[in-house]
Amino acid sequence: MNPRAPAAEPKDVAPRAPAVVPASFPPAELKATCEKILARYPTKMAALLPILHEAQAFGGGWVSPELEAGVAAYLDLSPAHVHGVLTFYSMYNTKPAGRHELWVCRTLSCWRRGAPELRAKALDKAGCTRTGEVGEDGRFLVKDMECLGLCEQAPAIWLDGVAHANVTPEGLEQLMDGCE
Ligand code: FES
Repeated sequence: MNPRAPAAEPKDVAPRAPAVVPASFPPAELKATCEKILARYPTKMAALLPILHEAQAFGGGWVSPELEAGVAAYLDLSPAHVHGVLTFYSMYNTKPAGRHELWVCRTLSCWRRGAPELRAKALDKAGCTRTGEVGEDGRFLVKDMECLGLCEQAPAIWLDGVAHANVTPEGLEQLMDGCE
């Protein structure tokens, strides 16, 4: 770079996102639970996963940026660390979830025994074009998941935390029809 060259014109810079105000965490109803969790672990950092589960349940199925920042402050962790963990594990949601959460296993055994058809059926019934979305009626969040530990009974799904094995597209349709 020539040090005598005239300074470049400043480029348009996108405005910064407003800073997130951390939610007060834990809320009164979660205080005892969170304290119990912390007592089980040698460090606050080690308790992050179960605390995030509690935060997600409290947040109605997802962890908002404010809640995320509140958890970071509670556990004395950097927001970047908490964000990295939150976005690494697929069981956490960083966007509003549907009233029901449907996981379709996409790992090898399930994939070879019908997971693509289940996935297509789930998306169609949920009214979504891709996994990770919530349909317009807000009923289902459909997610791809890695092995659910039911390979010998593939294909497998989880619906609202309950595992179902040997699932057919017709069976999946019935399960989904039973969800309000
Ligand atoms: S591969 Fe689907 S449950 Fe293991």
